[in-house]
Amino acid sequence: MRDVYNFSAGPSMLPEKVLKEVQKSLLSYNGSGMSVTEMSHRSKLYEDINAEAESLLRGLMSIPDNYKVIFVQGGASLQFEAVPLNLLQKGRADYIVTGNFAKKAYSEAKKFGDMAAAASSEDKCFTYIPKVKAKAFRDDIDYVHLTTNNTIFGTHFTKLPDTGDVPLVADMSSNILGEEYDVSKFGVIYAGAQKNIGPAGVTVVIVRQDLADRARADCPTMLKWQTQIAEKSLYNTPPCFSVYVAMLVFRHLKALGGVPAMERINKRKAKMLYSFIDNSSFYKNLIEKKDRSIMNIPFVSPSSELDEKFVKEAAQNGLLALKGHRLAGGMRASIYNAMPVKGVQKLIEFMGKFEKENR
Ligand SMILES: Cc1ncc(COP(=O)(O)O)c(C=O)c1O
Repeated sequence: MRDVYNFSAGPSMLPEKVLKEVQKSLLSYNGSGMSVTEMSHRSKLYEDINAEAESLLRGLMSIPDNYKVIFVQGGASLQFEAVPLNLLQKGRADYIVTGNFAKKAYSEAKKFGDMAAAASSEDKCFTYIPKVKAKAFRDDIDYVHLTTNNTIFGTHFTKLPDTGDVPLVADMSSNILGEEYDVSKFGVIYAGAQKNIGPAGVTVVIVRQDLADRARADCPTMLKWQTQIAEKSLYNTPPCFSVYVAMLVFRHLKALGGVPAMERINKRKAKMLYSFIDNSSFYKNLIEKKDRSIMNIPFVSPSSELDEKFVKEAAQNGLLALKGHRLAGGMRASIYNAMPVKGVQKLIEFMGKFEKENR
């Protein structure tokens, strides 16, 4: 057992059971005498891993048959460019800007067409999710883009906007598999792996079939979703090891009861931490209550000097990576699927002790 809890926003904790399985197979996967890091992606062994990863993810998210699932590289950030290049036909799309990554996605897309922010919460430092009525969207747009969970500021959408027939595209990097979503409500979902899925290096893209093969003629081959769809994510050398670990995480989640079970536990962990913060006169969470993320929980103490001391002493007590993002300051506890309830309890205990010693 490791006796530390890692609250990093990503790459973040993986289930200990999965890491042990990885350790066990590191020298020889399934008696093959090879590690997954060494084997050809054209081998049957790897093809089976790739196929099982897809099939498990389909099951976990109840992905309908008319959606394609691919594993690609370049992080969620490369999808900021892939989205417009694959989807623009009329040349226009609307973005809901609720955080730094949403803003990045929006500014990348502007390079490829006529983009508009249908709503933004930047006026209040991204501390809330704006209400977006259907009439906020322009006519004749190809898609609406949003970020379901805002990793840096700690907000999430509890209700998706009504985009009618216009495809909704979601960056789900920081809450995929942590909360239940009805995939059929989306045109496209993408997510970097390094929070709830597995190691960095692989990005999941889920695309509705009718949107999968309409990329612009000048879209680079490697950015075109259809390239990997046609080759079952094996067009070029995939990040084999990351996909393998992701597959083990998917197996693990399935055994735990899938996404509904994870969501229940995640809500419980988040409630524990928010209640503690709300009942304290020392710590504050500055996010509008109804929009609070259950994955990333930022908080501050009475001063930036105390914030710094908190992060340092927490680390000395085995509570790692609690420093807030440089854009938000303070602290941030990222409590993704792999963070046990016990980790949150330990954090709360430490917060109580720190408060007594420093108030
Ligand atoms: C919501 C969200 N989108 C996009 C990104 C960027 O992902 P990547 O580093 O995989 O490109 C992150 C990274 O933390 C994120 O949290």
